Amino acid sequence: MTQAHAEGATGAHPALSAAARGWLFFRRWLANPLEMGSIVPSSPVLGRKIAEAVRTGPPGPILELGAGTGAITRALLDGGIAPSRLTVIEIVPEMAEVLRQSFPGVTVICGDAWQLSDILDPALPGTIGSVVCGIPLVLLPREKQASLIAAIEAVAPGRGFLHYTYCVTSPLPIHAHRLEGRRIAWTPLNIPPASVWHYRRIGP
Ligand SMILES: C[S@@+](CC[C@H](N)C(=O)[O-])C[C@H]1O[C@@H](n2cnc3c(N)ncnc32)[C@H](O)[C@@H]1O
Repeated sequence: MTQAHAEGATGAHPALSAAARGWLFFRRWLANPLEMGSIVPSSPVLGRKIAEAVRTGPPGPILELGAGTGAITRALLDGGIAPSRLTVIEIVPEMAEVLRQSFPGVTVICGDAWQLSDILDPALPGTIGSVVCGIPLVLLPREKQASLIAAIEAVAPGRGFLHYTYCVTSPLPIHAHRLEGRRIAWTPLNIPPASVWHYRRIGP
């Protein structure tokens, strides 16, 4: 067993069945389709692609925004990330509770990702290695996108962030936000097919 796999081995246990997580996800989509962005959780294949990008990225704590019922959290742990490296943010209290029950050792914060500086442990900003954003950004007004990009930059300067999306092209207007953006992965094995982008701010 590699060091990485040993690191992640104790991360997850099935607190809620996959069917129950799927049902909760669907109910939340009915309640707020824009906030959820999808009717089903991300697939394990998409999760593995994100975990690979995180594992080969910088060391340090990992921040996941919009963790939902934990599809990507689980993939990160299964991919060898230690639970103690992970802080996940989820705005829906019922989902945050599922995350807490499912992932002992992972820091779960029920809160709004736009308020990152206020809700994170004050020791984290400046130490974060990778940020993974699952919050659907494409349909948000440009100012709202910009304020999340700024909130991420404030706590993880220079790191940029990974963002998974169902868009065929970049879900964020790269030039308008002064970003460098690169699609680093794609999979048809997700509903719907999904891409993973990495963005980094290149201007003030
Ligand atoms: C597309 S789902 C992704 C869920 C999960 N990561 C997955 O891949 O299956 C988006 C998630 O972002 C959460 N979310 C939306 N707006 C948020 C916000 N302002 N702060 C934190 N989480 C938010 C939603 O509640 C939802 O769980």
